[in-house]
Amino acid sequence: MILVTGATGALGTLVAEHLAGRDDVVLGTRDPGRLAASSPVRRIDFDDPDSLAEGFADVDVLLMISAGYGEDDAVTARHGAAIDAARAAGVRHIVYTSLTADGDHLPYALPHRWTERRLRASGLSWTVLRNGLYAELLAALAAPSADGRITAPLGEGRLAAVARADLAEAAVRVVLETPAHVGRVYELVGEETVGGADLARAHGPHVTYEPGTLAQARAHLAASGAEAFQVPMLTGTYSAIAAGFMARTGGDLRELLGRAPRSPLAAGVA
Ligand SMILES: NC(=O)c1ccc[n+]([C@@H]2O[C@H](COP(=O)([O-])OP(=O)(O)OC[C@H]3O[C@@H](n4cnc5c(N)ncnc54)[C@H](OP(=O)(O)O)[C@@H]3O)[C@@H](O)[C@H]2O)c1
Repeated sequence: MILVTGATGALGTLVAEHLAGRDDVVLGTRDPGRLAASSPVRRIDFDDPDSLAEGFADVDVLLMISAGYGEDDAVTARHGAAIDAARAAGVRHIVYTSLTADGDHLPYALPHRWTERRLRASGLSWTVLRNGLYAELLAALAAPSADGRITAPLGEGRLAAVARADLAEAAVRVVLETPAHVGRVYELVGEETVGGADLARAHGPHVTYEPGTLAQARAHLAASGAEAFQVPMLTGTYSAIAAGFMARTGGDLRELLGRAPRSPLAAGVA
């Protein structure tokens, strides 16, 4: 049996759509009441060990979607608990959605690398999907204001953005054929890069790109009601893109998909 965690999230929803109708798939979420799904649903909360002992019973392959919202110690604790519970329940193989190697400058890289290390030491069979940053995330971080200006502090930086739908499809291909992917680490970044000016053009002639500073973005985020841990996460994302660390294209996405990746601009802005 295959269990997909985080099934109400944006990535989990897309994965669940691909797997709908299969009789060997179970969806896991913290709140099963929110899921009107065609597959059976179990309550899975990495912060609640009881839910994991029951939820992982009879599971052979676990698609562990990262639960990266929180301080590093909160995220590593929940990922560690999930891996321990999977091993105790007899799960054979974990597929983990991690972060591209080029993301090592991002503030949220640490819990991903910690989880990868923990998986390697777990004695379980595993595959790591090192996802690039979503095209949809970039579009949200660099959305135009009401007066048609994109002020995200991306400078001339560009991102090898990847459509979330492509990452979902790649994850599905791996979970359905885990023996072919044992011990593999896949770099799943886009094949095109996107910058602030491209986003402005994609929105139409009424939108301009006028990048601000990191200090301005930090102040804006802090005043927006974002949680404290989110402010460095987001400013660090702008900074890494602006500094040119997130622009490496290529990787393994085309191989896993068996086709060219979707256009990141179409995925993010359309
Ligand atoms: N590559 C990128 O650009 C990028 C951008 C943002 C985030 N991410 C990471 O990739 C993950 C999936 O992305 P997304 O777009 O689907 O994010 P999302 O829509 O915000 O969904 C958040 C996910 O975290 C899960 N989660 C939160 N706390 C949990 C817990 N205690 N136990 C188990 N699951 C928990 C949620 O599952 P429930 O169904 O239980 O609510 C949901 O799947 C995120 O959680 C984050 O770690 C990647």
